[in-house]
Amino acid sequence: MNATSQPEHSQDPAESRLTEHWVTDEGIPVTLRSISPEDVAISKDFLAGLSFGTRYFRFGRGDFQYSDDELRRLCTPAPGERAQFIAVARCDGVDRMIGSARYVVETDGRTCEMAIVVNDAWQGHGVGRRLMRALIEQARRDHLQTMVGKVLGSNAGMAEFARRQGFDVDDRTRPGLKTIVRPLGP
Ligand SMILES: CC(C)(COP(=O)(O)OP(=O)(O)OC[C@H]1O[C@@H](n2cnc3c(N)ncnc32)[C@H](O)[C@@H]1OP(=O)(O)O)[C@@H](O)C(=O)NCCC(=O)NCCS
Repeated sequence: MNATSQPEHSQDPAESRLTEHWVTDEGIPVTLRSISPEDVAISKDFLAGLSFGTRYFRFGRGDFQYSDDELRRLCTPAPGERAQFIAVARCDGVDRMIGSARYVVETDGRTCEMAIVVNDAWQGHGVGRRLMRALIEQARRDHLQTMVGKVLGSNAGMAEFARRQGFDVDDRTRPGLKTIVRPLGP
């Protein structure tokens, strides 16, 4: 499931900012795009398909689930307040969500807190990097100045991923928790 093919960006200039297409070495087409209200069902399937460990690292609880109401709210974009990008793979004629990255703007209006998760089978194939790139570009378009995140102290993989995406990793915030911080300037 390597995602090494060159991305094809949309020809539409407005859409090209929000959508990226690529094909994996195995020939699986993948689209990265903003989430929409039609994505409730694939979001639910995506979350149900995460392993206990991945869910624990993302949500702090291995048995975490959203209610249907929460999912509907999360799939409804709130420009300027929240942003979320998803990666969707077309497998055997069916669209399957394979990754998600989102941020929520904090009350200062300049900082956003991010979270990201990729389906276990797709981890390590560049999906997270593409999602982060889209999220950072959107945060810049929203004139935000800093992206932050909270990472469980045991989540060494996310800490290393974050470093490679330009975040500083601070483990002095409180025991068992790391804070990641990335300025969004040019
Ligand atoms: C952390 C996570 C989002 C990374 O996504 P991914 O698609 O697996 O990452 P990518 O394949 O795009 O990797 C991007 C870079 O990070 C590095 N990286 C990714 N996972 C890593 C790991 N576990 N250990 C060390 N480096 C890692 C890759 O080597 C790659 O480096 P490069 O750019 O120098 O080649 C994903 O593993 C995940 O969903 N983890 C579980 C949930 C979680 O921890 N979420 C964070 C809560 S905020």
